[in-house]
Amino acid sequence: MTSATAVAGTNIALVKYWGKRDEALNLPATGSLSLTLDRLGTRTRVAFDGGTGTRDRVTLDGAPADPKVSARVSAFLDRVRARAGIDRAATVVTDNSVPTASGLASSASGFAALALAATRAAGLDLPPAELSALARLGSGSAARSIFGGFVEMARGARADGSDAIAHPLEAEPRDPWEVRLIVAITAAGAKAIGSTAAMTHTARTSPFYAAWIAGVDADLAAARSAIAGRDLGALGVVAERSALRMHATAMAADPPIVYWNPATIAALARVRALRDESPATPAFFTIDAGPHVKVLCGAADAERVAAALAGVPGVLRTLIAAPGPGARIAEAA
Ligand code: DP6
Repeated sequence: MTSATAVAGTNIALVKYWGKRDEALNLPATGSLSLTLDRLGTRTRVAFDGGTGTRDRVTLDGAPADPKVSARVSAFLDRVRARAGIDRAATVVTDNSVPTASGLASSASGFAALALAATRAAGLDLPPAELSALARLGSGSAARSIFGGFVEMARGARADGSDAIAHPLEAEPRDPWEVRLIVAITAAGAKAIGSTAAMTHTARTSPFYAAWIAGVDADLAAARSAIAGRDLGALGVVAERSALRMHATAMAADPPIVYWNPATIAALARVRALRDESPATPAFFTIDAGPHVKVLCGAADAERVAAALAGVPGVLRTLIAAPGPGARIAEAA
């Protein structure tokens, strides 16, 4: 096989990954826990067809990828080529279901789809755990998008990173938990500082970083048991705490990193008000390395939560996502 197409959904962490124990192997400093989504995904086709003749040709959302993105993709393909024993350049065509510049397209779905498409195109058929370790080398959060639903990423202890992999918390549950994640978009355009640079800067300069790392295991344990017990309130408390602590470490970095805008704060207030209203709507926020707010709630409340967020000044758009499957082959040729 010389070409393959894969699709992957993004994932939103409820217990955040924010810091590395090894930058070269992209090993996380802590575990993390996320929900893979059915929307906000990536479709990627890889063909080891010689690329431009000498170099990989990378197209992102219909246009040639910028040199930084191309270099990151080529470095990733180099690992796949080394593993498969091939040296041909590739053509990579990748499309996100939301525009890359919206700040919503993610490296999580991108590198999960790339890992699957590139290995298959290279004639490799890796088991999911190995695919997860490979995707992690592209982007830490991508290791989680190999799997569907609720997923936990292990910190791992080995120096080579072979145990820094994700696994699904509920492999094909008989009665899936009907949660939804509402995305409230609060700004147009790409984020000011990417997560890789921001978490590295935080680790080097934030006096809160050590305390952040020390608290993650307890958050993971609480999130795991909340999911096992289908306890939305308990999971929501952990998700909000993890997100706010992650942002607090970044805000305390030197110079500080502040991702929020006025609409971010207004959306948080609206989520809290939804919980305080009568009747109460259980809804809980999380925020990634950007100003957008993502809100976890039950499926039956999704429309109401989305409408409430749409009414917040500065919220440009909302969308409702459901739990989705892991990375999969879309077609192979
Ligand atoms: C805030 O996975 O993008 O979304 O490993 O450097 O590519 P790299 O970082 P990345 O960081 C994700 C940060 C986050 C939290 C999370 O997804 O856990």
